[in-house]
Amino acid sequence: MKKNFIMKSFFITKKNLAGILLCTALAASALAGCGDREKDNTQDDTSSDDTDNTQSDTSSDDTDNDAQDSAADDESSKIGISMPSQALERWNRDGAYLEEQFKKAGFETILTYSDDDAKKQAEDIQNMLSADVDLLVIAAIDDSTLDPVLEAASLADVPVIAYDRLIENEAVSYYVSFDNYAVGRMQGEFITEYLDLENASDEVYNMEITAGDPADHNAAQYYQGAIDVLQPYMDRGTLNIVSGQTDFDNVATPAWSTEHAQSRAQNLLSSYYADGTQLDVWLCSNDSTALGITQALAAGYAGSNPILITGQDGDEANLKNIADDIQTMTVFKNLSDEAVVTFRVAEAILTGGAADESLISSLGIKCTYEDSEENTCPSFLLEPVIITKDNLQDLADTGLYTMGDDGYLSSAAKR
Ligand code: BGC
Repeated sequence: MKKNFIMKSFFITKKNLAGILLCTALAASALAGCGDREKDNTQDDTSSDDTDNTQSDTSSDDTDNDAQDSAADDESSKIGISMPSQALERWNRDGAYLEEQFKKAGFETILTYSDDDAKKQAEDIQNMLSADVDLLVIAAIDDSTLDPVLEAASLADVPVIAYDRLIENEAVSYYVSFDNYAVGRMQGEFITEYLDLENASDEVYNMEITAGDPADHNAAQYYQGAIDVLQPYMDRGTLNIVSGQTDFDNVATPAWSTEHAQSRAQNLLSSYYADGTQLDVWLCSNDSTALGITQALAAGYAGSNPILITGQDGDEANLKNIADDIQTMTVFKNLSDEAVVTFRVAEAILTGGAADESLISSLGIKCTYEDSEENTCPSFLLEPVIITKDNLQDLADTGLYTMGDDGYLSSAAKR
């Protein structure tokens, strides 16, 4: 039997979120995954180790140079890496880390960013197929638009790894991501503990919610993870959503855009808080939207109380805001580790090696392997960690950020 949180993380997709909202318990077996491709391997999840995810650095794959060397020796493989957009900070790091992994093992790479334009991403991937790539790594903008190009990949026998964002398509062989439902739960649990909601008696905390792009399956997972934790406190009135906007569709942010998040926040502030109503919490699914919220608050919030604001990613501007007490926390996901796991899965696919938990056991990366009988797309889910002002230095210790003389962190990855 799989761990429940893994099942939830993997199976909450934008297509089934509406159903999930109706049920507290998930019927995982009834839900679809990234494809129906037949797999021999139907093992249960297992693998993880005790390594702190914040500890590995960009060269964390040094443990297995032999494997890389052999892949480089007998392959002249070309890898297509399709990232959504350079405007959203993290994907610049993903692209850099992924390229680094493949290139140092002797692979050729084609790396594209598609300006958050789903049509352009399909064209970019088609161009990669025309350039005879041997494998595709895709962080989808909107997987529903990729069916034709994924069919072309399938016909050309080009394997596909869904990177970070689930792609519901039979052409996809593996999914490498973080436990995205857990990210949302971590945000919800942070709010619960920070405000000690369990022991609140008559206290009422006013809260607003901002979620991500409805075209991205992850957005639904983050939202649902947080709401599952916070719903009891919303039901008993300890958390009061002043605007009344709680449904995913109402709080979602197209393209995860800072500007959209800011503009909605400005409207909420002028409609519900201009009379001096105190705002206490803003649940934000990620850093790009949290940035929009903090900008709206700076310009249009009448109060002067501290506001608990969540985030995710560790974007530079948000880490600065955390240092300056403007944002309270972020959920850090070690993208270098995500790239290492992706590289190892790709290498196994291309060399006929095993792509299962045995692949990650030597890496020193906290990662769970999942391959359920109900869902035949195996997944590798890494573990996120919470960052606050108190442990910002942990990010510098990963080697992925540098701490400046000004006390602010910047990403060490090339942009
Ligand atoms: C990623 C987040 C990111 C968001 C916007 C999601 O799919 O998982 O880490 O903040 O996209 O880029």
